[in-house]
Amino acid sequence: MTAKWICHPDDGREPRLVPVFRRGFSVEKPCIKGVLRLTAHGIYEAEINGSPVTENKFTPGLTSYYHRVQTQEYDVTALFREGENELRVTVGDGWWRWNNNFGYTLALLGEIRLLYADGSEETVFTDESWEVGLGPIVRTDLQKGEVYDARIDPHGWQKAALCNEHTEGKLIENQSVPVREKERFPGKPLRDAAGNLVIDFGQNIAGYVHMTLRNTSPGQVVRLKHGEGLDQNGCFSTANCDGGRTDFQEITYICKGAPVEDYTPLFAVFGFRYARVEGIVDADFEAIAVYSDMEQVGNFKCSNPLLNKLVENACWSQKGNFLDVPVDCPTRERNAWTGDAMIYCRTAAYFMDVHQFFKKWLADQTIEQYASGKVGITFPSTSSVHDPEELKAVRAKDPAMALAGPTGDGNIGEDSVGWGDSAVWIPYQMYLMYGDKSFLEEHYDTAKRWVEFSLRCMKEQNPLYAGAPWYANGDGDYIYDTRFHYGEWNEPLPPAPEVIELFAKGGTAADYVTHMAKYGKPEVATAYTKRSCDNLSHMARILGKDEDAAHYAALSAKIKAAYDKYLIGPDGTIQRGHQAAYIRALALDMVSKEKKPSVIAQLKRELEAANYHLNTGFLSTVYLLPTLCDIGLVDEAFRILEQTTDPGWLHPITLGATTMLENWNGMDMFRDSFNHYSFGAVCQFLFEYVAGIRPTFQAPGFKEFELRPLIGGSLTWAEGSYKTRYGTIESRWEHEGQRFAYTCTVPEGTSAHLTLPDGSAKTLSAGTYHFEGELHG
Ligand code: BGC
Repeated sequence: MTAKWICHPDDGREPRLVPVFRRGFSVEKPCIKGVLRLTAHGIYEAEINGSPVTENKFTPGLTSYYHRVQTQEYDVTALFREGENELRVTVGDGWWRWNNNFGYTLALLGEIRLLYADGSEETVFTDESWEVGLGPIVRTDLQKGEVYDARIDPHGWQKAALCNEHTEGKLIENQSVPVREKERFPGKPLRDAAGNLVIDFGQNIAGYVHMTLRNTSPGQVVRLKHGEGLDQNGCFSTANCDGGRTDFQEITYICKGAPVEDYTPLFAVFGFRYARVEGIVDADFEAIAVYSDMEQVGNFKCSNPLLNKLVENACWSQKGNFLDVPVDCPTRERNAWTGDAMIYCRTAAYFMDVHQFFKKWLADQTIEQYASGKVGITFPSTSSVHDPEELKAVRAKDPAMALAGPTGDGNIGEDSVGWGDSAVWIPYQMYLMYGDKSFLEEHYDTAKRWVEFSLRCMKEQNPLYAGAPWYANGDGDYIYDTRFHYGEWNEPLPPAPEVIELFAKGGTAADYVTHMAKYGKPEVATAYTKRSCDNLSHMARILGKDEDAAHYAALSAKIKAAYDKYLIGPDGTIQRGHQAAYIRALALDMVSKEKKPSVIAQLKRELEAANYHLNTGFLSTVYLLPTLCDIGLVDEAFRILEQTTDPGWLHPITLGATTMLENWNGMDMFRDSFNHYSFGAVCQFLFEYVAGIRPTFQAPGFKEFELRPLIGGSLTWAEGSYKTRYGTIESRWEHEGQRFAYTCTVPEGTSAHLTLPDGSAKTLSAGTYHFEGELHG
């Protein structure tokens, strides 16, 4: 006997039901252990005799359901009693049919194993003996929200049907870090400019609202709509983050009528700070943050309170977006975009222990890699395409948007460097931060296939550049000038004329991707492919693949030479007006010794022209401050960091932001998501440069590390701490005038190479140390 997938016989495309499964069973003799194993197509909440089985939420979690579905096991011994018992499991849409991603029917699979005191065992499997009915959750959707009718008791019990949808997905043991309810925020009521009752929870989070309603009448309807802000007119609005959807982040609760009613959504999660309330007089509201429950391991503080708030906001954006997979934002898209995670993964590790979180997620990237070597631009694939027939239909309608799916080739957006390079970068960075070689072992082949794909594209010729010197000189194989690349997405600069024209003509996002593919982005694509060759070569060396190591190192050298020769002008110009062009070239080692001084001179001009404000976009922002410091422009770096006018990290904070924004001026213009974590990667600079705590590849996982405290800007003191596998590293400096004092702690079993602000260097074994000295100059 094995468990069978069961479903509600009437569940399907429409109506979308929220089935409640139940199975009664009697325990006739003393039972010493009860073990429940469950999984679902959808997400499940289980209870035995009315008590919840777990505090974990959104189980079984999101994996590439085409290939693998997680199961969870619970010790439920304490929930049984002798005599009659009942197991009830409600299944909500979850990711399974959110946007119709994977399938149309919700289903349950599981078993309860009972071990009796007399040594005998009994197992109850999901099968046709179960009953299924409908409960008070009338409709549920992760993003749209929930309709809950408290007047409805579970009813309509009938025999469960067997379900065959997508059961080829392999069952695997749980690998997810559990998602749990974390911080709680009491709400403060206010009236917005339109007179709406709006509850302000004070912090932008991903989660939901627990409400306590008093003195309700039967059938009374309470509606909560969740949003991130009040618009320029002071009115509650979701316009910045709803992507044009009206059916968005809303709870409809229909009261049963009672002195007190309590409600918390089960299967919906929203990105919000505010909730607009309709239809209630007497109630309390509390927001609950929900995210993957990872240990918090790092802290940074300094004498500038705005920077401290920036750190807090970045950490909150991580919390708001790391719900089983790392999504771009908890509102509009909620897709696990590779580029965002690539940029931020190292910063993520400073705030929380993300080892298992990324281990589980990366496995899906490898599983879903296309035959071409491309990887999903978001994964697990949430493409609305879940069988080969549908894939064909989608392709026929719109070839550009023929997305992933089990047999797809990937869309043209998935050519993009900087996003696909996550296949190389994230395992490489996880190895650095945790010293766990399995990241390299498990993903080396994926990384190599991606790099090989990019190298093949590099060899293609772009007719637009037919007259370019790299073709004339036979160096076309080392300049990547074809395909679509997102590049410096969200650079705070006017868009290119061809982009303005396209959107003026009513072009869609799909048109944009198709259209821009014609232009390529040689400066970006060539640089990132070179970086990935470097990383791959280093990964190969660590894994003892010497031939590969030499091969990719040689390729990297050729690409660098071509870049330096063709894409950097004799006076160091790369792309006027774009700091990113110079930062990228310097950070990714694309510049020859000869041209370096002129490239730096151009960069200085760009900084001055921008009045020491940044104008980098998605990819280069993380490199901006470290690169400036590495080339000796420390004052400039701090000036940019501490700017309080746009574009910069601190301006939104002066406007009350509590998370990182998607756009450099998103708060003023009430545009774009207010909870996009990737620009929070500036915190890597705070940990690694200002506090000076840096990992090394020689002894990854902080077995050996560097301490290089950096004094600069308005700061009179700064401190950072980071809990490694060995213990906690601490680093703190203070300074006044030319004097500085520095204190650090090196954990047992590790050693640190310290470079003090006066330039003196020491190697330290475990212990706490204090130094004082004079700054030069
Ligand atoms: C997402 C980003 C993502 C990007 C691709 C956006 O819509 O929100 O975070 O990386 O698309 O450029």
